[in-house]
Amino acid sequence: MDIANFIVEGGASRAATSSVAFGDTSPSREEIAGAVAIVAETAADVAAREALLDDAMGPKRRTKSSEKLRRGRRPSEGMAFIARDASGSVAGTVRLWDVTLGEGGPAALLLGPLAVDPSLKSAGIGSALMRHAITEAARLGHAAILLVGDAPYYGRFGFSAARTGSLAMPGPYERHRLLALELVEGALDGARGTLKAAGRKLKAQEQASAA
Ligand SMILES: CC(C)(COP(=O)(O)OP(=O)(O)OC[C@H]1O[C@@H](n2cnc3c(N)ncnc32)[C@H](O)[C@@H]1OP(=O)(O)O)[C@@H](O)C(=O)NCCC(=O)NCCS
Repeated sequence: MDIANFIVEGGASRAATSSVAFGDTSPSREEIAGAVAIVAETAADVAAREALLDDAMGPKRRTKSSEKLRRGRRPSEGMAFIARDASGSVAGTVRLWDVTLGEGGPAALLLGPLAVDPSLKSAGIGSALMRHAITEAARLGHAAILLVGDAPYYGRFGFSAARTGSLAMPGPYERHRLLALELVEGALDGARGTLKAAGRKLKAQEQASAA
């Protein structure tokens, strides 16, 4: 993606002004992030989302333990988002999935994958997707969000491994990367066991287009 065009199409004029004044044609983080909108994913976005995930994460993304909790399921109702740039292209993606914490345990959301177009990294798009996802999850009444990821990144949104010591993923994962954020205080009190998929199942034809 051509960032310069992206910004011009997005209507941010400060980049052009400062490039004349300072000889720097790079748009700022704020300008790039400000030119994308975080919106609900539609069926028309699926192919672009999958291509972006392949670009950002490579083929190993399909072998992750989290994938066991997602395969054959739909994301939690209203919890699939994309970052759409001014030209309508998919610049980032995040989805959240219904799980239970242990057999018959409390409900929670599993977040992932989160990914941003590699050519637009570090412009704040990942953060915008995360903030939107957390806000919507809270608004819809979800009590907690879990994910497997890097604490140095997700810590800024309030995620930590402090409350996940008695929880486990259904497959290989690094324990210190299982992170959680309580949206309702105490939601993870006493939570223990292996996460289980609890999402609505995909129909056969949906499975073909979702993968
Ligand atoms: C991780 C990812 C979603 C971040 O999106 P982004 O739009 O680039 O992130 P933001 O612009 O909101 O934040 C960028 C900041 O996060 C930091 N960051 C990015 N990934 C990080 C990581 N894994 N650990 C620690 N910090 C990280 C960047 O260094 C940058 O720091 P700065 O603000 O001090 O410059 C994106 O880099 C990506 O798609 N990566 C490949 C897929 C992936 O790894 N997904 C996450 C699975 S855990």
